[in-house]
Amino acid sequence: MIGKEEICFNCFILVCLFFVVPMRYNDPKRIEVHGAFKNGSMLFLRPEVDSAYKIATERISKLQESNGASYGMTKFSLMPQDEFKNKYLRFRMSDFEGSQALVRQRREAHSFNVSGVPIKFDWREKGLVTSVKTQFQCGACWAFSTVGVLETMYAKKTGKLVDLSSQQVLDCAVGNFGCFGGDTCSALAWMSSNTTRIVPEEEYPLTFKMQRCKAHTKSDINIRVAKNFTCSNFVGSEEEIIKGVATHGPLAVAVDGLSWQDYLGGIIRYNCESHLNHAAEIVGYDLSGPIPYYIVKNSWGADFGIEGYLHIEIGKNLCGLAMRVSALDVLIL
Ligand SMILES: *[C@@H]1O[C@H](CO)[C@@H](O)[C@H](O)[C@H]1NC(C)=O
Ligand SMILES: *[C@@H]1O[C@H](CO)[C@@H](O)[C@H](O)[C@H]1NC(C)=O
Ligand SMILES: *[C@@H]1O[C@H](CO)[C@@H](O)[C@H](O)[C@H]1NC(C)=O
Ligand SMILES: *[C@@H]1O[C@H](CO)[C@@H](O)[C@H](O)[C@H]1NC(C)=O
Repeated sequence: MIGKEEICFNCFILVCLFFVVPMRYNDPKRIEVHGAFKNGSMLFLRPEVDSAYKIATERISKLQESNGASYGMTKFSLMPQDEFKNKYLRFRMSDFEGSQALVRQRREAHSFNVSGVPIKFDWREKGLVTSVKTQFQCGACWAFSTVGVLETMYAKKTGKLVDLSSQQVLDCAVGNFGCFGGDTCSALAWMSSNTTRIVPEEEYPLTFKMQRCKAHTKSDINIRVAKNFTCSNFVGSEEEIIKGVATHGPLAVAVDGLSWQDYLGGIIRYNCESHLNHAAEIVGYDLSGPIPYYIVKNSWGADFGIEGYLHIEIGKNLCGLAMRVSALDVLIL
């Protein structure tokens, strides 16, 4: 028999499951650990969560950066690293229409020269960036990052900020693997070569599942990616990335997101490798402080990182972010 009190007790636990003592950060809304709850100043863990918690705290203690980013318990931290990688890191290189060959190598050593660009720049401040999306366990980072850039380029041209259909790209972009992964360059190759037009998300909603590509004929908004999109390696010449952001638009990038599992905020300066396994979008940068950084939009919800974003130090190809950088223009049909 379940009495009223017992039901309420259960409710209390459920609510508390999403609250835990922050390890370094003082913003409790960013700290969500499934299976852990706080009572007074004590942290309680369910037994099955206990070993995952130990593994996470060991991993996190190795990540801590003096004078860099903060790491701690995020909504992903109690997941074994392999499982996290499988579910959330699904960037996969493909070679649709020779998209590998599209990656131009720009390896010449450049001094860091960004004269002529603003000291900071953020496309969000212009009101041209859509909300942070949540990919859940569908590995469609590659679709979210390219469609995110497309949304801003469309808004820049028309003044209309519209969520465009990542699901359509997920379902239809030949040469990719839907929720099992994809490649930003190959997605753009499809978006620029296929006659299919990208429609608003409203007309082709997200299901986070792979579906048969739905042919769309009528829509008020018909968009295609222009043929001259770029796909560049700017390792050693990251000033090109800054110039691209300031003068052209946001950039879709492939990254290594493994250490992002435990990212809470601050500027990532170390502990980020470059085994490309995820995709994101650079929407701005800030060169005004002692540590210059990129502002990176992710697709793991607004409750991840800095309201869905990360800050990553400029100039070190951190997280492999300079290896596969795409700019694009939009054609309105
Ligand atoms: C929280 O702590 C108080 C005092 O120690 C105790 O009475 C109460 O049962 C605890 N609640 C939970 C949900 O453990
Ligand atoms: C930086 O670039 C500008 C033009 O883009 C050039 O005039 C200037 O000499 C460069 N500065 C350095 C230190 O290379
Ligand atoms: C365009 O994409 C659709 C959906 O994936 C596919 O069925 C079609 O064959 C493609 N057309 C061309 C010309 O590549
Ligand atoms: C594509 O071409 C247009 C027109 O020439 C140009 O304005 C734009 O910057 C180019 N886009 C890219 C990504 O190079």
